[in-house]
Amino acid sequence: MIASLALAALLPLLATAVPCVQFDTQWNLYAFGGSQDVNLGKSSSWAQPQVTPLTSTGRPPWTGNTTQCLLSQFNNAMYVVGADASDASKIYIYSFAGNSWSTQSTSSAPSPQTRSASVLDHDTNVLFTYANGGLSQLDMSAVTTAASGSALAWEGVSAPSWGSGYASSATAAQASNHIMYFGAPNTAAGSAQIFVVHYAYWQPTAQNFASRSGGQAFPDLAGQAVSFPVDGEGVPTQLVYIPSDFSASYVVNHWTNPSSYASTDGSPYASNLINTTTTLPAPPTKDANAAYAASYQSLVQITTGGEINYIANAVGSGSATSGASWTKMNYALAGVSGGSSASASASGSATGSASSGSASASGTGSRSASASGTASASGSGAAAASSSRAAAGKVVQGGMGLVGIAGAAVVAAVAGVGMLL
Ligand SMILES: *[C@@H]1O[C@H](CO)[C@@H](O)[C@H](O)[C@H]1NC(C)=O
Ligand SMILES: *[C@@H]1O[C@H](CO)[C@@H](O)[C@H](O)[C@H]1NC(C)=O
Repeated sequence: MIASLALAALLPLLATAVPCVQFDTQWNLYAFGGSQDVNLGKSSSWAQPQVTPLTSTGRPPWTGNTTQCLLSQFNNAMYVVGADASDASKIYIYSFAGNSWSTQSTSSAPSPQTRSASVLDHDTNVLFTYANGGLSQLDMSAVTTAASGSALAWEGVSAPSWGSGYASSATAAQASNHIMYFGAPNTAAGSAQIFVVHYAYWQPTAQNFASRSGGQAFPDLAGQAVSFPVDGEGVPTQLVYIPSDFSASYVVNHWTNPSSYASTDGSPYASNLINTTTTLPAPPTKDANAAYAASYQSLVQITTGGEINYIANAVGSGSATSGASWTKMNYALAGVSGGSSASASASGSATGSASSGSASASGTGSRSASASGTASASGSGAAAASSSRAAAGKVVQGGMGLVGIAGAAVVAAVAGVGMLL
């Protein structure tokens, strides 16, 4: 544990800017945050991607380390939060159809500490971010594909009863207008806490997602999570959660009838698949700060060093694809601005052009057994306290207590360093 805390103390020195991936509504894959941003085409061409550079005019500085790239599906646009390390209030908007950037200014912006703290609600275009103080929201419904001239104001929503210390672990994604929060304090394995968007309501108890693939419940750990959008304009009804122990990639189903939570009528998959999980292999590169994006069928990882791994046929309706495996793309994003030499040498992608070997798809093996989630976290209190803000109009929780989950975050962070070394 002393060694772990010593490594945790080194983390700020290793903090790097991070790239991300996202899809447009035609399911072309894009990678952002390198020396240039690029379109990598549809999944059918990923074995030999045609790389098309995007405009650099007005793009983000890509200096953040908690950057998230969120698809606004109705608008065929991407909203980027946390891309400027010096200014959390700026949201960069990319129009896929227009190949153009604009910058939305906001006020009272939260400062998320993780890469899965924010969710863009599919139906309302409202952004929800979990940070110190709890949940905040920003209404982007009038913004669509380009920034509006005036600043938008973030509003406090509320903090859940279990939320103390959770900002450093926040791991959220949406399915059927419910935002699932993974790795929440004192939550059973296989369960997530839920915020119901349309009712602005924290469910009083966690929801269990029964495992359909071998009985393995997902762990109660921080990690990364993204929704699988639907092909068309419907709300996502599946998401993937990749916990920091990399035990698997958990595909979580959730569907709720919009008019009655007690009815299963209208479910896009068999009603006995609602609130269940199936698994895909963990990504081959176990990078705790990697980013993910999903199309209606594919799942893509980009590591902090710019390496790209994918499963082209990750999900069908209601299930992970049985036997699906990860493939390393024969292209890595070059020039990730903060990329440390350690991560570049680990991934072998420092030059960024197509790395020589054929694509490899291991992904079934090595599980990290280290993350116990109960480590004590005497080293992390100061960081949590110093980044705590008391913005006007927000619900700010009293007492940043140190609870078990903070230890889990330290363990997760150390696991990330282990990967880089
Ligand atoms: C991001 O950088 C800040 C400032 O250097 C650091 O305190 C924080 O731990 C970093 N976060 C991550 C997730 O790397
Ligand atoms: C699924 O979970 C939601 C959220 O907890 C709940 O409201 C709903 O009743 C559950 N549905 C089924 C079929 O279990």
